[in-house]
Amino acid sequence: MAIRNIRKFGDKVLTKQSKPVTEVNQKLITLINDMLDTMYEEGGAGLAAPQVGILKRLAVVDTSPEGDSPIILINPEIIEVSGEQTGGEGCLSLPGKVGIVKRPNYVKVRAQDINMEYFTVEGTELTARAFCHEIDHLNGVLYTDLMTGELMDSDVEEEEEL
Ligand code: NI
Repeated sequence: MAIRNIRKFGDKVLTKQSKPVTEVNQKLITLINDMLDTMYEEGGAGLAAPQVGILKRLAVVDTSPEGDSPIILINPEIIEVSGEQTGGEGCLSLPGKVGIVKRPNYVKVRAQDINMEYFTVEGTELTARAFCHEIDHLNGVLYTDLMTGELMDSDVEEEEEL
């Protein structure tokens, strides 16, 4: 259990394509646990492996108000989307900033769990936004690539960092 350093905007690792996870070994379990600790410590609702400098297709998401419902996504893929939402989006790699990003309002993701078993998970609103945002990180895409308008200073009370 450890807090990892979060790579910030401008770090080239955030613009690179991540590689598929081929096996879950002790090193990967440690990484997952550290990513969860880091996400909770920093008050984020999601974190992708490239944000801690590891180019693997792995992300964690927890949009529950209590922060007690982690979703671990290994090799995630979006398999269904519907609807639309437009709103403020933040990222732990750009602390204190927010941009307006249009996302689907509903997203279904297929991913592997820590036993490398496939599962699907659905989300709406913030959860759908988080799934899109984290999977974008695995493809080297930041919300600043997608936003309409300028990057703004965020109100920490209102914006979730992903
Ligand atoms: Ni992010």
